[in-house]
Amino acid sequence: MTMREPAVLFVCLGNICRSPMAEGAFRAAAEAAGLTVTIDSAGTADYHIGEAPDLRAIRTARRHGAEIGGYRGRQASAQDFHDFTHIFALDLSNLANLERIAPSGHGAHLGLLLDLVTGREGQAVADPWYGDEAGFEVTWDEVSAAARALVAQLSR
Ligand code: 4NP
Repeated sequence: MTMREPAVLFVCLGNICRSPMAEGAFRAAAEAAGLTVTIDSAGTADYHIGEAPDLRAIRTARRHGAEIGGYRGRQASAQDFHDFTHIFALDLSNLANLERIAPSGHGAHLGLLLDLVTGREGQAVADPWYGDEAGFEVTWDEVSAAARALVAQLSR
């Protein structure tokens, strides 16, 4: 049986802080592992469509060797459940919003990102938007741990 190549979508609220960082961390980890996978990110809200990631997110990713400055915000849609095999919400409210727009009978795996990380199951990646840049470092650590776990899972 031929398996469909994985396609992974990361989803937060604005698609300018957490999910672009998750996308960047996973792109780097997948590339390092030689994994062939489609990768994207989106927001459940329409606030930042077409915008580049938050400068604090771009700077934090750069400190860790990942370039996310070319990403542009877009809103998640029902079509994403057909286009992606794995959809990961960064927190529980975004997971609930995705469940609301999911078309019936879709075949995608929908879950919480930190469910991938042993000991962090059920937890949210905190929104760093209202804090300082140190919060973005915490976000990077969290999305990187999830990225490593996902690469390991998809490489098996
Ligand atoms: P994100 O962060 O969901 O991680 O991209 C936010 C970005 C923008 C807003 C909230 C969170 N906002 O209210 O505009």
